[in-house]
Amino acid sequence: MLSYRHSFHAGNFADVLKHLVLINILGHLNKKPKPWCGIDTHAGPGDTILTSSYALKNREFDNGIGKLWQRHDLPAALAQYVESVRQLNAEGELHRYPGSPLLFQQFLRESDRLFLYELHPSEIPLLSANVAGDRRIKAIHGDGLAAAVGLLPPKEHRGVVLIDPAYEVKDDYRRVVEILLKYYQRFATGTFALWYPVVDRKRNQQLELALQNTALKNVHLYELGIQPDSVGHGMTASGMIVVNPPWTLSADMHSCLPYLAEVLGIDGNGSYRISQLLAE
Ligand SMILES: C[S@@+](CC[C@H](N)C(=O)[O-])C[C@H]1O[C@@H](n2cnc3c(N)ncnc32)[C@H](O)[C@@H]1O
Repeated sequence: MLSYRHSFHAGNFADVLKHLVLINILGHLNKKPKPWCGIDTHAGPGDTILTSSYALKNREFDNGIGKLWQRHDLPAALAQYVESVRQLNAEGELHRYPGSPLLFQQFLRESDRLFLYELHPSEIPLLSANVAGDRRIKAIHGDGLAAAVGLLPPKEHRGVVLIDPAYEVKDDYRRVVEILLKYYQRFATGTFALWYPVVDRKRNQQLELALQNTALKNVHLYELGIQPDSVGHGMTASGMIVVNPPWTLSADMHSCLPYLAEVLGIDGNGSYRISQLLAE
């Protein structure tokens, strides 16, 4: 039984890093005219109204997009990310936050394709409504982790798979490694971006070790922490593990992560990690 609803968390510090990385990858794909294929294995609702009861419950966006919205000293890549959020907020107030599906959609060109998977029966109608009428996009009710295998390699031979589980099920930590390897075996030149939370550092160490013991190549990790590691106090950090990142991503992370750690860290406890888990 799935209980996670992304609208409680939309625009929080984890979304900032995840979506910053996603935008860098999509911008890079668009540097060449050749079409690409995007797959979002865990799409969520696509869009969150920040004045909804969900978003207002814990106001997580306050310590995320909310702190960046009015800043004038943003590093260039972060300014571009905030600009993407502004496209949904034409009147200037921060009222809506785009999930990964709408961010993907902003970058889609005429011949690009996007597959969105969502398993939660209450989220799939919201997602479908948010992308309705766009013939480049298919929103599908189902297990995206398993289904994406069948789409690889895409006919475009260029593209990105965003893997963004909520880790409600502990087995997700194991399953993502297994599935990432399957994706890679079918599409070794694709870019794969896996989000992870830090709730209990031991699990992350196991995840990193498990990845390092695979045949994957060219794997990088980018992490943002807002509190010191602790067990039993929720998510203190989160990160993105990217297979075959664009060459521009590392430079963007070097300019944005120290800034984000400073601005979003709680009581001066911000931190970041940039590391290469596996060589090319
Ligand atoms: C973290 S949220 C996604 C947020 C979204 N990617 C974004 O960045 O805006 C995870 C979503 O995955 C859905 N989900 C969980 N297991 C799934 C699965 N096996 N396949 C597809 N969706 C799944 C949940 O219902 C939830 O909406």
